[in-house]
Amino acid sequence: MSTPRGEFTSRFGFLMAASGSAVGLGNIWGFPTNAASNGGAAFLFTYLILVFVLAYPALMAELIIGRHAKANAVTALQGLSRGTISRGMGTFVGFAGIITVSLILSFYTIVSGWMVAFLIDPLARIANLDSLADWLTTDTILRNALFVMLFMGLTIYVVSAGVKDGIEKWASRLMPSLVVILLLLILYVITLPGASDGMRAFLIPDFKQLIDPGLIINALGQAFFSLSLGAGTMLIYGSYVSKKENLPALGGMVALLDVGVAVMAGMLILPAMYVAQANGVAIYDESGGLIAGPGLILSVLPALFNSMGSAGLLVALAFFLLMTIASLTSSISMLEVPVAYAVENHSVGRRKAALIIGGIVAIICLTIVANFDDLFDLVVTVTTEYSQPLGGLFFCIFAGWIWNRNSLLQEIKQGFPEVEQSLFWKIWPFYVKFICPVAIAAVYIQLLS
Ligand code: TRP
Repeated sequence: MSTPRGEFTSRFGFLMAASGSAVGLGNIWGFPTNAASNGGAAFLFTYLILVFVLAYPALMAELIIGRHAKANAVTALQGLSRGTISRGMGTFVGFAGIITVSLILSFYTIVSGWMVAFLIDPLARIANLDSLADWLTTDTILRNALFVMLFMGLTIYVVSAGVKDGIEKWASRLMPSLVVILLLLILYVITLPGASDGMRAFLIPDFKQLIDPGLIINALGQAFFSLSLGAGTMLIYGSYVSKKENLPALGGMVALLDVGVAVMAGMLILPAMYVAQANGVAIYDESGGLIAGPGLILSVLPALFNSMGSAGLLVALAFFLLMTIASLTSSISMLEVPVAYAVENHSVGRRKAALIIGGIVAIICLTIVANFDDLFDLVVTVTTEYSQPLGGLFFCIFAGWIWNRNSLLQEIKQGFPEVEQSLFWKIWPFYVKFICPVAIAAVYIQLLS
């Protein structure tokens, strides 16, 4: 029995869902710290170029393949194939995407769980429950395990409600709130002493660092993670877009929103770090670099909020609410990938699929929580540095080499009838065919050597 497939009901709904997927911990945490440690605006500059010349074309490959097939990645890639070899490759790449995104979801859920714990902390303090507040902010296996389950529960809740009543509805509520909270926080933080030093560290370019090959690898990794590429997420969201929409324009807006929020987050996090420094909090580690990892979000910023007195409680609340919203709109897009596959190809009900797959990922999370030092960094590195770029490479190969060019053109023409005269059609096919695969492969070889 086949139920009708879900579809986003409006352009706004898709934009909120897709930018909700893109905007996440990668923007608010990853991007600002990456920028600050890699030459400030020099990184921003490299990043912008990479987003528009490499990540946007790869994003379009996923969106177009998805909308054409109106199906999950496995079925979509199989459908583009012309022979047994490419069909086998499609099956493999589709499944690899499902496994990659599930593993990304497993570490993402752990970090998101921390955000929820730190969101409840100021509430506990307001209620004078200081021992609860201390428990919430102390790194224990029990706390981490409980918040993994809580956050996964939220993710399952939204995904089980479906594309329109779950993903679109929640993204349309949460994303505008995220932008408002982010703006308010920026406006507050930049008035504090020390903030302008942070703004300088973020915006003044140190072009000497541009020749560092590490910078380009970091920027490309950041761009792929931030736009949720290479794992079938954007493909499945593309599959829910109506044939009436102009896909290249929609994809461009998603990329702009993603970059916009990353730049705004830089204007919050860097000034906040230097305000913390002005308040006596250490913001450099022993090797002289800016503290960037969990130490930044879980210790530097909370120390800053504590030093602000009672206003700090409100700021902490707003900040961790921002992080939780950013995480949730991303985690639902990850869980949707395996769920859509199970629903479409194995006729499992959506609710049941979300519960079972979410449950399995939660078990993986708990395994990582219990063996954190051995597993966490390993899972992050393997998925984000290796599988994701490789996935992106294959999506480009499918769009550029395997898919029949005329059928590809017909797909984009729906919603964009004049595409053949557009700049997009002059540049993009060449990009997905040659530039993206070569550039991703080059970065990959760098990484391996
Ligand atoms: N883009 C999100 C972020 O910046 C994370 C994300 C969501 C993601 N879906 C993904 C990353 C799929 C890789 C693959 O935080």
